[in-house]
Amino acid sequence: MNALVNVKNLHKSFVLHGQGGVALEVMQSLSLELHAGECLVLAGRSGIGKSTLLKMLYGNYRVSGGSITLNFHDGALELSDLPVHAWHPLRREVIGYVSQFLRVVPRVSACEVVMEPLLARGTDAAEARARAETLLARLNLPQRLWRLPPGTFSGGEQQRVNIARGFIAEHPILLLDEPTASLDATNRAVVIELISEAKARGAALLGIFHDADVRERVADRLLPLDDHLIAKTTFSPEAHS
Ligand SMILES: Nc1ncnc2c1ncn2[C@@H]1O[C@H](COP(=O)(O)OP(=O)(O)OP(=O)(O)O)[C@@H](O)[C@H]1O
Ligand SMILES: [Mg+2]
Repeated sequence: MNALVNVKNLHKSFVLHGQGGVALEVMQSLSLELHAGECLVLAGRSGIGKSTLLKMLYGNYRVSGGSITLNFHDGALELSDLPVHAWHPLRREVIGYVSQFLRVVPRVSACEVVMEPLLARGTDAAEARARAETLLARLNLPQRLWRLPPGTFSGGEQQRVNIARGFIAEHPILLLDEPTASLDATNRAVVIELISEAKARGAALLGIFHDADVRERVADRLLPLDDHLIAKTTFSPEAHS
């Protein structure tokens, strides 16, 4: 079976403009395949580039070299040089991302934060609200919080809102950056269930999980990034960040 995502010889360096153009080399020659229905887990020490890889796949960071290809039944799409305007529909329909921390928008309630990806696709508001409430209830977010903006929520409460938002739209590709880091055992178990359900409907998941127990329960394969580390800085004014 063809991989849904093909990463080939990916290279990433950041140019530190405030430091006279010093280039920080983070990743070289990283290749991976991600298939529908599996969860591939990124491993490796802090600072090795795990979050950076997810951000390149989501278009938050530019690719310095190599390719990221999505393979659909009707053709392939190259992400490394995708024009800016093409990212919006891709994120709405194809690639979901659960960041480590929720981006809080003042005066937008928890329920609205979770509904938003469905509304963006044109789903009826009542249906979007019902699905958001179902997810928030599964993640044990107290009902009294659903109509409040998450700015004052605890770390774990905010993370559960973020997870509900990430899973609600059932994207074919889902990127997870430590979604269980601030959760208790009960809610970690719910996230493990959500991941299993996503795999069962054929989603391809790429995740980072520091918790060894969670990792063991969700990972179909592990990808250690250590081999692709370059621990050096070089002067390279032509590189991009
Ligand atoms: N926007 C940026 N500008 C400059 N350097 C960056 C930027 N983002 C990340 N880096 C650097 O890239 C390297 C990899 O960072 P990254 O956040 O991907 O690590 P990580 O493997 O996710 O670590 P952790 O397990 O601690 O989350 C680090 O040295 C970091 O300082
Ligand atoms: Mg990280």
